Amino acid sequence: MDIGTIMNTMRDPAGVPAVPQLFQVLAVGTWVFHIAFVHLTLGAAGLAIYAFYKREAGPYWEQMSIAMTKVAKVGVSLLIVLGVAPLLFTQVIYDPQWYTSNVLSAGWAIGFIFTLIAGYCLWFAFYWGNHEGAKRYIGVYAVLSLALFILDGLIMHALAYQAILPDRWMEWYAPGGVVDTSGSKLHAIEWPRYLFIMSLSAPAVGLYLIAYADYFATRSDKTPEYRAFARLLGRTIAVPGLAVSALLASWWQLDHPAATGLSEQPLGWLLPGFLLVLAGLTAAGYQRLHGYAFLGIGLGVLALLAFWREVVRITYLTPFGYIASDYKVHADWPSLVLFFSTLAGVGGLVGGYYLALLYRAGRVQGTYTAEPPIARLGTAAVAVLVVWIGVFFVYGVAIWIRNALLA
Ligand code: HEM
Repeated sequence: MDIGTIMNTMRDPAGVPAVPQLFQVLAVGTWVFHIAFVHLTLGAAGLAIYAFYKREAGPYWEQMSIAMTKVAKVGVSLLIVLGVAPLLFTQVIYDPQWYTSNVLSAGWAIGFIFTLIAGYCLWFAFYWGNHEGAKRYIGVYAVLSLALFILDGLIMHALAYQAILPDRWMEWYAPGGVVDTSGSKLHAIEWPRYLFIMSLSAPAVGLYLIAYADYFATRSDKTPEYRAFARLLGRTIAVPGLAVSALLASWWQLDHPAATGLSEQPLGWLLPGFLLVLAGLTAAGYQRLHGYAFLGIGLGVLALLAFWREVVRITYLTPFGYIASDYKVHADWPSLVLFFSTLAGVGGLVGGYYLALLYRAGRVQGTYTAEPPIARLGTAAVAVLVVWIGVFFVYGVAIWIRNALLA
């Protein structure tokens, strides 16, 4: 039996509840937010450490280190939460690949969770100790924590990359004909891809700092001098960072196997191209353009990266006869309606409320009192949560009773 048939046989016989393209779009779209927070977190963590050891060099480094420590602290929780959505969608349409890859490196897949927990605890230890006049040794916690996060990125990369190399699974499963069930190896790493994706952390925190300087324009505790320092630091990190990322993107582009024809695809070359354009724009306009504009363009680059990753996956898997869009469909309208109304209601309204609240509150020094529109949004968010919980239970109980009656 060839590997293509095996992959198609490994698909969930229940099929998917709506057209597979829907899950494909959602997997690509939601991954953008996951990776945006991966980049922001790793970049902020790196800067927090650098600034921590540079505290004696000037008045703003300590303030910057404490601020970035908090950004990374919140960032980790968001990258985890925002990783769940693409994980679920990937598992729906690429289940044979994702599960095989995870089983082949099971030790690492499980270790990922523990290293993430250990890394996050270490970051909290650093956060706890990083205040004015902090002890120097606490920097070690931060360095170890960042090293673990970088390792987690490597595990994520290997799992994603092994998943698109099905012709090599047997050689990993039974090297030399002897079955190896240890799951103790990361079997495939494509360094140009991994280094490129991870390298985007530097420009991400650079562009974030430029936006940060504008965001805090209303706060008197963030003096104009400190904000100017943040802005210039942002530019200093972002411009060379973008250039290095563009180089690494080109390396990845040249690293694709010739048979895939991916190296000749203009779409793939758009990535280094856009990164260079953004570098030029940042160098020339970091004083004039609003900081949020850079973040918006940066998110656009990540959307292109997410799309390109999917093109790469499709190109690798198609020759084996695995096409995500031909997954068997068993339409399930009620669960689809429930899913999208949850996304719009709980995700949109409750999530939107939190975002709006945090955005507004962060711009005020001292106690923040919600303005009437924000307060109304809060009431609507609570109402939608009550409705959602109600529907969830009523729906479940209705199905349970129906099944009991039919039995
Ligand atoms: C510090 C922690 C993490 C880091 C540094 C990280 C980093 C990365 C990177 C670099 C990739 C892209 C790999 C590639 O395309 O080569 C990736 C993909 C992904 N990550 Fe994370 N990640 C982390 C945690 C998580 C968590 C906790 C989840 C889930 C809850 C998650 C879900 C995903 C998913 C679903 C993908 C895409 C897999 C695919 O479609 O092939 N990540 N991550």
